[in-house]
Amino acid sequence: MSQSQSGFTKQMARNIFYGGTVFFALLFVALVFHTEQQIPQRSNAQAITPAVVAGKKIWETRNCIGCHTLLGEGAYFAPELGNVYKRRGGDFIKAG
Ligand code: HEC
Repeated sequence: MSQSQSGFTKQMARNIFYGGTVFFALLFVALVFHTEQQIPQRSNAQAITPAVVAGKKIWETRNCIGCHTLLGEGAYFAPELGNVYKRRGGDFIKAG
């Protein structure tokens, strides 16, 4: 059986390969560009005060995540802390 009888040639396979590669490479570049555009709006960088930085440092160095979750990430031993301010109020959260 010759190639032309099969209906699907090496040339067609090659075109699909190159076409698909170019298409998805361009799609990838477009999505990376789109993500880069979104980061400033989504990171809330303007809301990161020294208190926020200090809290993050405590979270990272005191193993809070060993027992708690933060927005679902972490261990399931102790209550979720992402919504603790809403549940318990500011007075409960205040240190000292
Ligand atoms: C050894 C496990 C463990 C570690 C580590 C831990 N916690 Fe907890 N935490 C608990 C448990 C258990 C409770 C629930 C106590 C209760 O309800 O009586 C709790 C309660 C809390 C609460 C009150 C939550 C609520 O909804 O009532 C806060 C806030 C809290 N922890 C913050 C922290 C912070 C911040 C850290 C890190 C500095 C931390 N925890 C580290 C086990 C832990």
